[in-house]
Amino acid sequence: MKHLVSIRDLDKTEALELLDSAQGMSQVNDRSIKKLPTLRGRTVVNLFYENSTRTRISFEIAAKRLSADVINVSADSSSVSKGESLKDTAQTLEALGADCIVIRHPMSGAAQQLAGMGWVNSSIINAGDGTHEHPTQALLDALTIQQRLGSDLTGCRVLIIGDVKHSRVARSNALLLSLLGADVQLAGPVSLVPMDLSALGVRISHDFDIALESTPDVVMMLRVQRERMLENFQESEAEYVNQWSLSRKRLSVLGDKSLIMHPGPINRGLEICSDAAEDSRSTILQQVKNGLACLLYTSPSPRD
Ligand code: CP
Repeated sequence: MKHLVSIRDLDKTEALELLDSAQGMSQVNDRSIKKLPTLRGRTVVNLFYENSTRTRISFEIAAKRLSADVINVSADSSSVSKGESLKDTAQTLEALGADCIVIRHPMSGAAQQLAGMGWVNSSIINAGDGTHEHPTQALLDALTIQQRLGSDLTGCRVLIIGDVKHSRVARSNALLLSLLGADVQLAGPVSLVPMDLSALGVRISHDFDIALESTPDVVMMLRVQRERMLENFQESEAEYVNQWSLSRKRLSVLGDKSLIMHPGPINRGLEICSDAAEDSRSTILQQVKNGLACLLYTSPSPRD
């Protein structure tokens, strides 16, 4: 696998193998000496046109643990701010020795463009492109579910809640968890859950409380992405909390073994209350930890 742009790049066997390997790699993170020689002599560039805490730092730590040289480039402190194009930026990075470019970009399709246009020979990993996909987030989420509920996700009931429209996390998770046999339902306000998402092979609903009656195994809350909303969200915030927040009241009707997931960063008091985020059923920090394990495996290596 040279690139990882979309969950659609994987079939079920490849996805399961990748998750098995990531589970094995997670042990590296528990060793006293956390280095592997896998990427010695390689250069990984993290090219981020959008802010990130979890993804950028996880990619940096993973590449360092695999002995690569790592360079972090943020758009606002590079010549991108002078108008340099994506093509010219990527070719410049490759001329400087990049074997792998990890890209986060506000434009849906940016990673695909880099991987598919023949501008560079580097491996391309999509760290989130616009509202399209965030494949490594879906992989770390699937690994987390496997660790908590067992490796076979067939029939696992997953409820993904909130601002689906702007969520690349929701798209990648819907694709991956469906591929692995889970029963995925997307729910949120009509304005934030377009019906055309049913083409992903998932069910759609517009009532959180009714959706909770189906006793989901996993409730995955999504961040309200104000930065991608053209309209003024503030006006309807109280209504959103009332209808779509994982509140203390809704927390009390969740099953004892149901998982509470959130990709982060969380808006406490908006899509999720603090009690839910810190509940024993919450996997939020386990998800972060598993990101590192997944990236240790998905970072390109000499096997490619
Ligand atoms: N989940 C996620 O992608 O978080 P960051 O934006 O902090 O990378």
